[in-house]
Amino acid sequence: MKFNEHIRVIADFPKEGISYKDITTLLKNGDVYRAAVNEMVEKIKPWKPEVIVGPEARGFLLGAPVAYALGIGFVPVRKPGKLPARTISETYALEYGSDTLEVHADAIHSGERIVVVDDLLATGGTMAATANLMRKIGADVVGMGFLIELTFLKGREKLVDYPVFSLVEYE
Ligand code: PRP
Repeated sequence: MKFNEHIRVIADFPKEGISYKDITTLLKNGDVYRAAVNEMVEKIKPWKPEVIVGPEARGFLLGAPVAYALGIGFVPVRKPGKLPARTISETYALEYGSDTLEVHADAIHSGERIVVVDDLLATGGTMAATANLMRKIGADVVGMGFLIELTFLKGREKLVDYPVFSLVEYE
């Protein structure tokens, strides 16, 4: 399936010069959404994960159905202040300022095999921070899967320690 035909590209959003990849058009099409999730599932299965981890918010839209299809659990990585129990956090640098991600401290057991799923690999900052969080918590990160990769931003260079796939690349 040519997933790129179902991703809407919006020029100059959220600011001038950015070509935004809008996945809402893909998600709205049930056949395409299911095909994308199924393709991710087939690529992830050989890694034999015990848990799927997804960063807020768009990571939930792909990570949760992948976990459901594999019959394994899903753990959300969230923006600060959203998770009610004790959390572990990771702060990472942005172009301007910084951002923080959190996960429940007891969400993953030490040594558990996890795969992180997100909609988009851009600079790799979100995924590198998520991987650091997972390391702090003792998880074994066995792979990372994305729907979209913006290869020109070279996010993979931050993720060289992990197997990575994406279904659609923009160069
Ligand atoms: C987007 C996207 C990824 C991240 C990729 O999330 O869903 O998580 O950015 O960018 P990076 O590789 O440069 O880190 P965003 O922070 O916009 O949050 P949202 O999913 O809640 O919209």
